[in-house]
Amino acid sequence: MSDPTSRRDLIIGEAPGTDEQVHAPVRELLARLHRQKPRVLGFPTDLANDFSEAGALLSMLTNNAGDPARSDAAGNDTKPMERAVIAWFTALAEGDPHRTYGYVTGSGSEGILFGLYTGRRRLPRAPLYTCAEAHYSIRKAACLLRMDLVEVACRADGSMDPDALHAACRARRRRDTLTGRRPRGAVIAATVGSTIRGAVDDLPALRAAAAPAGAVHLHNDAALGGLIAAFSPSRPAWNLDQGADSLSISGHKLLGCPVPCGIVLTPARLVAPAPVGAYLGTDDHTLGCSRSGLAAALLWMRLRRLGTSGVRDLVHHCQDTAAYAHTALTQAQAHPERLPDAITVTFDRPPQEISARWHLATQGGRAHLITMPHVTRHAVDALCADLTRTGRNR
Ligand SMILES: Cc1ncc(COP(=O)(O)O)c(C=O)c1O
Repeated sequence: MSDPTSRRDLIIGEAPGTDEQVHAPVRELLARLHRQKPRVLGFPTDLANDFSEAGALLSMLTNNAGDPARSDAAGNDTKPMERAVIAWFTALAEGDPHRTYGYVTGSGSEGILFGLYTGRRRLPRAPLYTCAEAHYSIRKAACLLRMDLVEVACRADGSMDPDALHAACRARRRRDTLTGRRPRGAVIAATVGSTIRGAVDDLPALRAAAAPAGAVHLHNDAALGGLIAAFSPSRPAWNLDQGADSLSISGHKLLGCPVPCGIVLTPARLVAPAPVGAYLGTDDHTLGCSRSGLAAALLWMRLRRLGTSGVRDLVHHCQDTAAYAHTALTQAQAHPERLPDAITVTFDRPPQEISARWHLATQGGRAHLITMPHVTRHAVDALCADLTRTGRNR
């Protein structure tokens, strides 16, 4: 599946490498990353931050093995910081500060897997309902958890259609009634801030729509959209007090943590019992065993520096840039669409060379940009100038 490297200077051989052999490719890599940064418009990772001040954290391995609540026997963890991060997100998500379980995951997808695993353990016979615009990692999770995946139609804005969910749940309930089975329940993978358009599912409407199925577990994939929803003027329902039984948010998207990570939260009473190796000396309900202590410490540093007001300002800044991009793309006749409060703006798919130059995400006839904090109005103007130029030449 992987190509052997074509770069001779990257080949790991028998002999130890010299400092220069190790450092030169790293310097080159960093130079390339910094060169392309202003043109990375299509992906929801914040590249604006320089975490060099955290360099000393690399002087030693930190491993948050097991639950955040207690150090494991090895003790080289950053769990006090992880607990502070989880406490901040729990407050934001209106969870009970004493009865909410959460941890720093390795990615948004791990948070989804944990949430759906929690739902699967609660309702072992329930199908998993999701919609086409949901992230593909939900399909991976369904496969891993061996869940019956039901794809529900989307509304015009890309959110899951509650009427279609209701019809799907009712049809299954009818089938079960005819065959004398008990209701199966429903595990719903909802999304607040879909990958391509930033669509926001209506969590209370989805819960109500799934009533014919019986008991419901709703996981909210709020990878990018959770923080946006929390600070948006329209305040859509997204959190543990507004319809989510579990939710996951990314740490490297809006918050720009320099290693991929995320957080997952759920009421502690819903957490499935888990086998734990006695040698560890702590509980472990996480999906792995070892987890990145570095990610938790970096996330804590970022949040401590920003404070809640800083995160709010960041969201509003991104929304202002998105509004600007929508206007500029309209003037460039690219037919943009921006859903309420979204920082994602879709527009007509440009020629491949422009998509590649601006690192745009494309799907079908559309492309999108996401106004992450490193995306400037200047970059938006330059993209629009490129679009206008190619439009004129076509
Ligand atoms: C809505 C949504 N959910 C989940 C993910 C997956 O997150 P990760 O790449 O951190 O696994 C993404 C990635 O962009 C996403 O947009």
